[in-house]
Order: sequence, then C-alpha cells, then structure tokens
Amino acid sequence: MSGRRKAAKKQSVCEEKKMFDSAALMPHASGQNSAFQLRRHSSEVSQDADPFTFWLTGLSGAGKSTLATEFAHISNELALRHHVLDGDVMREGLCSDLGFSEADRAENIRRIAEAARLLNQAGVHAIVAVISPFRAHREAARRIIGVNRFVEIHIDTSLATCMERDPKGLYAKAHTGQLKNFTGLSAPYETPHAPDLVIRTEDHSIPECHGLLRRFALSLISRPVPSAILAA
Ligand SMILES: Nc1ncnc2c1ncn2[C@@H]1O[C@H](COP(=O)(O)OP(=O)(O)O)[C@@H](O)[C@H]1O
Ligand SMILES: [Mg+2]
Repeated sequence: MSGRRKAAKKQSVCEEKKMFDSAALMPHASGQNSAFQLRRHSSEVSQDADPFTFWLTGLSGAGKSTLATEFAHISNELALRHHVLDGDVMREGLCSDLGFSEADRAENIRRIAEAARLLNQAGVHAIVAVISPFRAHREAARRIIGVNRFVEIHIDTSLATCMERDPKGLYAKAHTGQLKNFTGLSAPYETPHAPDLVIRTEDHSIPECHGLLRRFALSLISRPVPSAILAA
C-alpha cells in the first residue's frame, strides 16, 4: 500500500472510531425517577472483551423475553453475531429434567451459563433471558462466563405490574396454589446489587427500551461500526 493510501485508511479508521466514541452512552444519574441506570465497570466489562453475554434477569412477566427479542433485532441491525438463550426454551430442552428447588435452579443457571460460554467462545454474543432470582447463582454464572464478558441487565418491573401483566397466567396459577416456589410470591427474588444496566419497563415503552438497549450495545462493542449503522 502506498504511503498516501495508508494515511487515508488510517484517517478513515480514526473517523469511524470517533463516531463510535461519540455514540458511547454516558452513565445516567441514578435515582428513583431515572428510568434506567447504567454502571460502567471499566475494570470488569472491558471495551475489548467482545463478545459478551447479556444476562437479563428479573421477575416473571418483567419483560425479559420481550427485550431479549428486541436485543436480537438490535444485534441484527448492528451486524453482531448473536443467539438468544431464553429460560422458557431452555426448560423445554436442555434443562427439561429440572424443577424449581434451589438446587435445580442452580443447575438450570449453570447449564445456561455453560451454553453462553460456549457461544462466546465461538465468537457469538449470548443474550440470556432467565429469571435467575438468586445472586449467588448469577455470580456463579459470571464466573463460568468470565467477568469480562458477563453483562448483568436488570429488567426491573414491580411485582404488582408483573402480576397485572401475567402474560402466561402463571401468577394466577401460583395464587391458587397450582405452582409452588413461585418467584416473587412463594420464593425470593434477589435484586442485583450492581447491575451494568437497569431498565424500568414501567417507565418506558418497548420502543424506548429498544433505544436504551441499542445505545448500551453501542457503548460496549469495541469494533468500529459503519457510520450508516450509527446514523440509523
Ligand atoms: N417496556 C416494556 N418492556 C418489555 N415488556 C413490556 C413492556 N411494556 C409492556 N410489556 C409487556 O410485558 C410482558 C412481558 O412478558 P415477557 O417478556 O414474556 O416477560 P418475562 O420473559 O420477563 O417473563 C409482555 O406482554 C410485554 O408486551
Ligand atoms: Mg420469558
């Protein structure tokens, strides 16, 4: 490559990088009224630790599966290789032998984390949507996947709203005693202490959540993004 072409290429890479940096999401002020909060752990979520596991945790009905699907659309838009691991789907297959005791929940999370690790090793972003109510289990997943890859996203929706939504009629069943150990009612949900992102779905419509997730994804991925994609 001639010196002039080399210089031109370097300039174009720098311009792309500048555009990427300008799209990076700045941490929001936290507080009761903020719809979502972002914490950047510069030491834990490294800019060059691509690919990631985006771990969506929250109550049943919080919006994990809905927003995992939105995140998959975003990944398509950004040309990121990705795969969704949805808790409900996993329980139909890989984890179909497991119930809802604490030991079975631990094993459920372990298997999902191992699957996410394999995806990451193959260069694929994993988008995990699973209640994962226990902090210790999420920390075990973080260890399996690797602290540089594990990105914890709390889909923060109140129990009252989840019960009102009840998209699968599970709260109704739990109330009549048909479901035991139901998270939020007869089993605990341990709120993440320091998630990388909190999305309060009661304060934001699904398209707004899409926008938040898109900016978040752009703030984490390290490779230059073509300007046409950023402008979209
Ligand atoms: N901002 C929002 N984000 C996600 N889901 C929302 C939002 N507002 C309303 N919903 C509705 O809440 C329900 C969430 O269901 P789902 O995604 O299956 O929850 P989960 O996977 O957490 O159990 C869906 O019916 C969805 O349309
Ligand atoms: Mg779901």
